[in-house]
Amino acid sequence: MDNKTIAARVQALLAEMTLEEKAAQMVQVPVAYVGHEEALRWARLGAGSFLHVLGDEARELQKAAIEETRLGIPVIFGIDAIHGHGLNDHATIFPSQLAAACSWNPEVAYTMGQVTAREVATDGLHWTFSPVLCLGRDTRWGRVDETFGEDPYLAGEMGAAIVRGYQGDDLSDGEHILACAKHYIGYGEAVGARDACDTEMTYRKLREVFLPPFKKAVDAGVASIMTAYGSIDGTPFTSDRTTLKDILRGELGFDGFVVTDWDNVTSLVHRQHVAGTVQEASVMAARAGNDMIMTTTAFYDAVIEAVRAGKLEESVLDEAVRHILTIKLRMNLFEKPEKAGRPGCFGCAEHLAKAKDAADKSLVLLANNGVLPLQPSVKKVAVIGPNADDIRAQYGDWTYFTHPKPNLAHEPVRPYVTVKEGVEAACKAIGAACVYHRGCSVLDGEYEDIAGAVSAAKDADVIVLVVGDVIPQIGEEKDRAVLELSGRQMELFDALRALGIPLVTVLVASKPLAVGRAATDADAFLCAFNGGMFGGEAVAKALFGEINPSGRLPISFPRSSGQVPVYYNSLPGWHALPGRGYCDLPRTPLYAFGEGIGYSAFAYDGLTLDEKTLEASVNVTNTGSMTGTETVQAYFSDVVSSVITPVKQLIAFRQVTLAPGETKKVSFRFAREDFSLVNRQEQRVTEPGDFVLRIGHSSRDEDLLEAAFRL
Ligand code: NOJ
Repeated sequence: MDNKTIAARVQALLAEMTLEEKAAQMVQVPVAYVGHEEALRWARLGAGSFLHVLGDEARELQKAAIEETRLGIPVIFGIDAIHGHGLNDHATIFPSQLAAACSWNPEVAYTMGQVTAREVATDGLHWTFSPVLCLGRDTRWGRVDETFGEDPYLAGEMGAAIVRGYQGDDLSDGEHILACAKHYIGYGEAVGARDACDTEMTYRKLREVFLPPFKKAVDAGVASIMTAYGSIDGTPFTSDRTTLKDILRGELGFDGFVVTDWDNVTSLVHRQHVAGTVQEASVMAARAGNDMIMTTTAFYDAVIEAVRAGKLEESVLDEAVRHILTIKLRMNLFEKPEKAGRPGCFGCAEHLAKAKDAADKSLVLLANNGVLPLQPSVKKVAVIGPNADDIRAQYGDWTYFTHPKPNLAHEPVRPYVTVKEGVEAACKAIGAACVYHRGCSVLDGEYEDIAGAVSAAKDADVIVLVVGDVIPQIGEEKDRAVLELSGRQMELFDALRALGIPLVTVLVASKPLAVGRAATDADAFLCAFNGGMFGGEAVAKALFGEINPSGRLPISFPRSSGQVPVYYNSLPGWHALPGRGYCDLPRTPLYAFGEGIGYSAFAYDGLTLDEKTLEASVNVTNTGSMTGTETVQAYFSDVVSSVITPVKQLIAFRQVTLAPGETKKVSFRFAREDFSLVNRQEQRVTEPGDFVLRIGHSSRDEDLLEAAFRL
């Protein structure tokens, strides 16, 4: 259907709809919370959408919406398919967004989106509340695992790719679903990383740092946007026309629909105290540009009464409903209310292979004194630690263990491979012995047998210690003030280290923790984050050199909790002694954005930059003895600018695979806009003057070659 036909059909529907039908169309009902009967009542009232409902229950609601309402407008079903359709058993579970971002490979994000869309569509659902385009800059925040890391450029590239994967080229085809870029905007920037709190943000900063990933998602055609819980300069985003209308629609040209986050409307009353009643809050939210209201079903009566009392113009509802119906028509829902999906695709071999590939590519080796890869001559491996055999911790947030209501008692659904299982299988293949001991729990007081772990490990050739975090420390309302390893994990490390046996630390965690000497005093440190179904197998393959870990950090590791935030693209101006940061801690992070070593080493030389064409190139050589993939990273700094600009900012990256000894020339072509800033008038401009281009292996100064140039 072309846009003109869609617009005409929407107009015709709107002309027929009553005030009640319009209000209902804006309501999204949380099925897991209201229960089936109440959900059915809403379907008969003409609710526009439901969330957290699967399979046949969804089909029944759809049937009621179509057959038992006057206009038969189909509903759309939304679900949090965040790293795979993980709320449903047997679906393919991918690495978390943060883990996937370690691949620095938009193709990985695209594939995650495509596979997830197929599995969601097969469940009769239309829409995932993904991707998260917030930045993980303050790692105390509970939801850092859901981000693509700390950098707007990388997050935007990965975000646009996953949107394309979810939506395909045509929203009406059977296998693609709506994406939802969230949380618009600045949710990760809450003060003190306190979930949903006020942000320390101006509109200039919003445009400079937080808007670019959303712009890329809009350019990629994202069909929906979810608003953030937080606020900007005292105005909740839920009631902020500037961000929702002027910027999103006016400037970015977004033409989909906006959904609030969970109960944002009542939050205006109970949490943020800018409205006295739900009716006031509903009017504010509708006026500001929220088209669909998640969870707050009281919105329905509130806006109907408000319109009748002359407190809200019906045209506000018309505009919101127009946005929703336009997408429903673009999806061709009136003709085909249920996506065709692909029967049998849940966890099918093809999808599992893609989850494996993503897990392989998401591993980041951060330290190695030569202990890795393990040699085939190894006779005995001891796998120790609380996260070595804990599939819940390996999955992290947003699977059937955590949502829509936490259910840690849910039996894990095969297939999956924990680190213990992966290493056991690898040992078996080479005839080596493998022992396992949990050692301690991640949370205090659940389990502790450090002596038992030491005794299990004492005659091993190598110890693989798996530490990290667990579900009660991850997600909404789970911000951490202390990022050091919790429970007895450090004691376990120290006791094992004292054995004097080669020791590899593996981090299975939702985000960078302040791992300290568990990484720096180990012989090797491998970051696996939440690797999904095959995270453990990927770790085993990396340990034994079956794969050459090629991930790079999309986020910096702090040296201690007190060093957070420690993102690389900070603003200069810290009044500290040269080369110093805090007087009791270096300025640099423990591991920096872009870092990752693998089993190859890469040398850079011959950086050239043509000032006229803005073409740059550099030679990259694999100086190691294994074929490896390098991520060539390009950053820039603006030498003198009208506003303070980051010490450096990523503007491009390329991946290149090189055989041992091989050299390749890697080229970039930049545009003037790549060197832009947002000025005090909130305009994005490139200011003439001196710049420095830096290209190399990571964001660390010592890893980058420099070329000065003038624009
Ligand atoms: C609240 C979360 O903030 C959001 O990310 C999620 O999509 C909704 N709940 C629905 O579960």
